[in-house]
Amino acid sequence: MNSTKTAGMKAFRADILHLLGDPGATLDHETSEQIEYIEDGLLVIKAGLVTELGAAKTLLKTLPADCEVIEYPNQLIIPGMIDTHVHYPQSDMIASYGEQLLTWLETYTFPTESQFSDPAHAKDVAGFFLDELLRNGTTTALVFGTVHPESVDAFFEEAQQRNLRMIAGKVLMDRNCPDYLQDTPESAYADSKALIEKWHGKDRLLYAVTPRFAPTSTNEQLAKAGQLLEEFPDVYLHTHVAENKDEVAWVRELFPESRSYLDVYHEYKLLRSRSVLAHCIHLDDEDKQCMVETGAAAAFCPTSNLFMGSGLFDYVGMNQHGVRVGLGTDVGGGNSFSLLETGSEAYKVTQMLGKKLSAFQQLYLATLSGAKALYLDGKIGNFEVGKEADFAVLNFAGTPLIKRRAKHCNDLHEKLFSLMMLGDDRAISATYVLGEIAHCKSSYGGN
Ligand code: GUN
Ligand code: ZN
Repeated sequence: MNSTKTAGMKAFRADILHLLGDPGATLDHETSEQIEYIEDGLLVIKAGLVTELGAAKTLLKTLPADCEVIEYPNQLIIPGMIDTHVHYPQSDMIASYGEQLLTWLETYTFPTESQFSDPAHAKDVAGFFLDELLRNGTTTALVFGTVHPESVDAFFEEAQQRNLRMIAGKVLMDRNCPDYLQDTPESAYADSKALIEKWHGKDRLLYAVTPRFAPTSTNEQLAKAGQLLEEFPDVYLHTHVAENKDEVAWVRELFPESRSYLDVYHEYKLLRSRSVLAHCIHLDDEDKQCMVETGAAAAFCPTSNLFMGSGLFDYVGMNQHGVRVGLGTDVGGGNSFSLLETGSEAYKVTQMLGKKLSAFQQLYLATLSGAKALYLDGKIGNFEVGKEADFAVLNFAGTPLIKRRAKHCNDLHEKLFSLMMLGDDRAISATYVLGEIAHCKSSYGGN
C-alpha cells in the first residue's frame, strides 16, 4: 500500500445492514428505528474503527482523494457475527452419532478432550477452528477450552495472531469425569488465576472462568470459581445449565438443598453481569427472574438442542422476560459452525413453539444481541461510530439456489430471510477483522 495514503483510512461500498436495538417482530425495516439499511452505503474505517456510515453518493465526495475504496456491488455488509457458546476442542468430533448429553459426553467428548494436554495438537485444532469461524463470518466467540491450561494458551496465541476479539477459559472439572481429565479445586484456582493474569485484557482477548457444569464440580470447586470472580471482577463466567432432562434430575440428586439447577450457581455467586449460561431450556419463572436480576445471559443453541434431542428454547418468551440472549453454535454438540444455519434452526425451534422469528431478529441475535449478552456492545455488534470494524460480506448469489430464490423476493425481509434459511459459509464472500481482510471466498458466483 502507498505510504502517502491517508493513514489507515479505507472505505467499503456495498448495501449495509445493522441493528441499533431489538427490532421486535416487524418485517418492515423502513418503519423501524432499530434497523438501519443503507442501499449502496459506505462504511468508513480508520485504524480499525468505524468513523462514518452513510450513503455512498454523499460520503464518497467527502473522502480524501487517496482513500482506498473496496467495492462489493449488490452484496450486503453486516457486523461480524458473535457465537456466544462454542467448544473449540470438539471440532474433530462434530456430528457424532446417536447419543443424548450424558452418554454423548462419556462416549465422544471426554476421549476427544484428553488430547489437549499436547500443545501441538491444541495449536493445530485452535488454528483450524478460528479459520472456520472466519469462513462463516463469525468474528467473536465465547469459547470452552479443555481442563488443560495448555489448551487455552494455544487458543489465545492463535486468536492473538489473527487480531480477534475472543473470550475463552480452562474447564474446571474435579468429579464425575475420567481421571485423566480431572483437576482439583486448588489446581483449578491456581491455573485459572495464572491464565487470567497472562491473557485477560491482552490485545482483544478476555478470560472466562469455565466450570463445565454443576455435575462435574464439587462444592469446593464451585466456591473456588466464585472466589476467582470476586478477585477478578471483570472476567466472564461460562458454563452450561438445564440442557437435558436427565442432567436436570442428576443435579437435583447431587444438590438436594438447592431450589433449582440455576440456583446452584446462584448460591456460589456465579451469576452476575458477564455470566453466560448455555442452553437454559428447562428453567422456571423464578430462574428467569434470577437471570434478569443478576444480569446473567443465556446462549440459545438451537442446532445443538435439536441434534442432541435436548429440548426447545423459548426465545420469544425469554426475551419478553428481559433475559439477555445470544446465539451459540455449541460445536461439537451443534453440527454447524454457521450462525446463519444456527439462526435458521432458531426459526424452526420458534415455529415448534407456535411463535415467529423474523430475519431481522435472527440477525439481531447473531450480532448486537450477542454483543449485549457478552457486555461488549460498546465495542462490537453494529457499526456505530467508534466501534471495532469487524464485519462479514453476505453474497445473495452465494449458491445457485440462493441466487434463484433472491430473484423472486419483493422486499429486504424476504431477501434476507431466504438467505438466512438457505445460507451457510458459501454465502459469506469475505470477513474483515478491524477493517483488514481475514477471509476471502476464493470463488463465488457473481451477482
Ligand atoms: N454439558 C456439559 N458439558 C457439555 C458439553 O461439552 N457440551 C454440551 N452441549 N453440554 C455440556
Ligand atoms: Zn456446550
